[in-house]
Amino acid sequence: MAKNFALKTAFVLLLLVSGVSAQQLPKNPLAGREVFEKEGCLNCHAVNGSGGTIGPDFGKQVFPGNDYDLLSRMWNHSQRMLLMMARTKTERPSFTGRDFHELGDFLYFIRYLGEPGNISAGKRLFTTEGCIKCHSVGRAVPGKIALDSMKIYVSPVRLAQAMWNHSIMMHRRGAARGVKLPTFSDNRFADLTAYIRSASSLKSGEEIYSYPGDPVRGEQLFKEKGCYYCHVEKPVGPKLERMRTNESVTEIAGIMWNHSGKMAEAMKTMNRSYPSFSGDEMADVISYLYFQGTPRTSGSAELGALLFKRKGCESCHQTGNQFNAPTVDRFGPFHDKDDFLAALWNHAPRMEELLLAKGKKLPDLMPNEVKSLYLFINAKTEAGK
Ligand code: HEC
Ligand code: HEC
Ligand code: HEC
Ligand code: HEC
Repeated sequence: MAKNFALKTAFVLLLLVSGVSAQQLPKNPLAGREVFEKEGCLNCHAVNGSGGTIGPDFGKQVFPGNDYDLLSRMWNHSQRMLLMMARTKTERPSFTGRDFHELGDFLYFIRYLGEPGNISAGKRLFTTEGCIKCHSVGRAVPGKIALDSMKIYVSPVRLAQAMWNHSIMMHRRGAARGVKLPTFSDNRFADLTAYIRSASSLKSGEEIYSYPGDPVRGEQLFKEKGCYYCHVEKPVGPKLERMRTNESVTEIAGIMWNHSGKMAEAMKTMNRSYPSFSGDEMADVISYLYFQGTPRTSGSAELGALLFKRKGCESCHQTGNQFNAPTVDRFGPFHDKDDFLAALWNHAPRMEELLLAKGKKLPDLMPNEVKSLYLFINAKTEAGK
């Protein structure tokens, strides 16, 4: 805890000194869990099976991408959602921009956390993936490397990290013995972790939990460890924005592992030292890769101007309207996009009510339309100042 705190403090100082902008990477992607509970979402929506069942499960059925996507989904489903809220006497959630931003990060992060491992699947993999040819767990086997001490690590990322750090040795041994090295997909790191932890002969009750990863620190490590050099500066490997990183943490760890042999070769020919990880470093790097892989949404102020008419916004938001709706230059001003998204969502119930009285429904909004409306409105309010 203390170490973590010191580390983060040091990093914040570093940011201040270097003036590096932290983009929009969250320091703690789990902060939005509080909003999710406080606003009553959990009463109707589960996260990986725990929570309400009235709406879809965010760990299994629905994976909102960025904040525009989240708003678009909530908006397009708002009719039924508001109805269920009235029926279950749940208060309608209303957000600040910050709430909405944290909620978006949290919901996006659920996919990253992935599902818990399965012991029997892990036991099978230990044999089918050939770990058993070089390793033992549970009881010592002469000539094999025991993995029992891995028991203390609860997070699958620690297994991935240990393998990553020993990658060169493992590849060498594999080549010498003609043994094919394992490849990883799906939830394999989590399954293997669950198995090793259950089969280990280690008596110690010590358990080391990793925190889920700090993307801001991860970005820094990505530079320090030389990843940036090969994936951005001199793209020897796939370009950062092309990497497949919108997957769960164990899947991303798997992708890194699967490439570790080729990466190590590239490093050798380029005379660069192989980067190893300690503590929570790999978790930090992976959470950075995940967040930088957030799907992007396109949009333009020109399209927004068109949509403001086409979607019927202007029918209410014009000078002298009967509803007391502000004209567009009187909106906000919005501090950032999430401020706007929160305001848009907060006014959905009233807008729906007014439209219903005219026999109309809330217009659907796709993510690029939400973004375009934001760009248009923001430009107008900036101009109106
Ligand atoms: C009273 C129950 C209830 C509450 C509270 C509730 N929802 Fe929902 N939600 C639903 C239902 C039901 C649906 C499915 C609506 C449909 O099928 O049209 C839904 C759909 C959604 C969707 C769209 C899913 C998709 O298929 O893309 C999102 C996103 C969503 N809710 C987010 C939230 C968030 C965030 C909160 C808390 C701020 C919340 N909901 C609170 C009942 C609820
Ligand atoms: C071809 C032989 C080989 C295969 C197959 C193999 N490993 Fe390894 N493994 C090694 C070698 C060699 C080391 C490095 C030992 C050292 O450096 O002391 C190692 C190291 C490790 C470490 C680090 C141990 C530590 O104490 O830090 C872990 C964890 C690990 N392997 C897990 C696995 C898993 C899980 C599998 C199967 C998915 C696997 N290995 C398959 C040869 C192999
Ligand atoms: C010396 C250059 C080099 C360095 C340093 C390097 N990589 Fe790579 N990386 C590569 C190459 C080359 C590939 C493609 C290998 C292949 O095709 O199997 C690759 C592939 C990858 C992939 C798979 C991408 C995909 O979409 O398939 C990931 C993820 C990755 N690297 C992450 C990292 C991280 C994280 C670091 C820093 C710890 C790092 N790399 C450091 C050269 C490098
Ligand atoms: C049926 C009339 C009506 C329609 C149609 C309508 N609005 Fe509104 N809107 C209002 C009213 C009334 C308010 C004043 C606040 C409130 O009552 O919620 C408002 C407030 C807002 C606000 C908050 C302004 C602020 O400064 O906080 C935003 C943003 C907004 N509307 C955007 C839109 C967009 C975008 C559309 C089209 C997709 C739209 N509105 C369509 C009636 C409407």
